[in-house]
Amino acid sequence: MNFEISPNPTPMPEAARLEAFRNLGFGTLFSDHMAVIRWTEGKGWHSAQITARAPFPLDPAAAVLHYAQEIFEGMKAYRQPDGRTVLFRPEENARRFNESARRMAMPELPEEVFLAAVEKLIAQDAKWVPEGEGSLYLRPFMFASEAFLGVRPAREYIFCVIASPVGPYFKGGAKAVTIWASQSYTRAAIGGTGAAKCGGNYAASLLAQAEAAAHGCDQVVFLDAKERRWVEELGGMNIFFVFKDGSITTPPLGTILPGITRKSLLRLAADAGMPITERAYSFDEWQADAASGALVEAFACGTAAVVAGIGKVKSEAGEFLIGTGQTGPVTTRLREALVGLQRGQTNDPYGWVRTVLPA
Ligand code: PLP
Ligand code: COI
Repeated sequence: MNFEISPNPTPMPEAARLEAFRNLGFGTLFSDHMAVIRWTEGKGWHSAQITARAPFPLDPAAAVLHYAQEIFEGMKAYRQPDGRTVLFRPEENARRFNESARRMAMPELPEEVFLAAVEKLIAQDAKWVPEGEGSLYLRPFMFASEAFLGVRPAREYIFCVIASPVGPYFKGGAKAVTIWASQSYTRAAIGGTGAAKCGGNYAASLLAQAEAAAHGCDQVVFLDAKERRWVEELGGMNIFFVFKDGSITTPPLGTILPGITRKSLLRLAADAGMPITERAYSFDEWQADAASGALVEAFACGTAAVVAGIGKVKSEAGEFLIGTGQTGPVTTRLREALVGLQRGQTNDPYGWVRTVLPA
């Protein structure tokens, strides 16, 4: 697909950008450009462009505004010590995007077009990839833009990629986070959209996340919708448990988002000789294992949050500590193994790191 490239005539001045880079948070600063591709029934994908980041004119009847036909991805570009800019397993994001598209009755975007849109945007906004600890968070997304009020899959969509230079997701840095186990709200049911990265899942998580914040917690953890018993995942991260015998477990796929960080950590842990399982783990077991000392660590993982130790769990029933309440050694070791690859501090035997811009 051919992209028409129209550089932003008024990019952010260099001094302002560098000033903004001094204190990066998550998702509040945006680069100068965006990638846009349109889809129309009968015509397919067309009108690909890299253009100045700007609002979309949107008809008030656009289907996304009414029925939430929307999906997204999240990935990061890293500047490596040798000056290259790389992505981490972006093919996995392209594949998952299409899995989400199928679930939401949206058109699939060829994986090579998804990757080209992301890479052309990074090339155009190369100076927006921060050095050091930061990264450029890429947010590919697609929404139904057709104006109509009937309930059916739309016949027009917009695919877009925006970019945001980011620092840490959690303000506390490496400090372990506290999470709220929601007993009132669930995120996803069997047969629902839990495994898709659709905006509606996040809308459904906001009240639970607000409840978590009101209880002084950083994130919410959801239990399954049927029995309200099995630990599923956090609002925006997967979860792992580390046991005293050195084994590691994480909830099985099905109603949770199949995280690329989750998949990568399972591989890194297995290759480090840690026994791994993917199995249902109940909230009661969690609490009992934390009390007995059988469970020594837990952590959350995802593109935005990377790997974050979980120190404390709160719920309506009370609270409990995991291990010492600090980020544990296995969590730290896995985090370093992952970050080492992403940041080019260690060799990549997996072929997970894809060069986007040369040194
Ligand atoms: N679970 C949810 C609900 C998420 O939003 C995310 C973030 O993308 C993840 C898990 C982790 O997925 P990944 O590791 O692919 O970023
Ligand atoms: C990501 O990790 O990319 C996500 O989409 C999670 C979101 C909470 C920022």
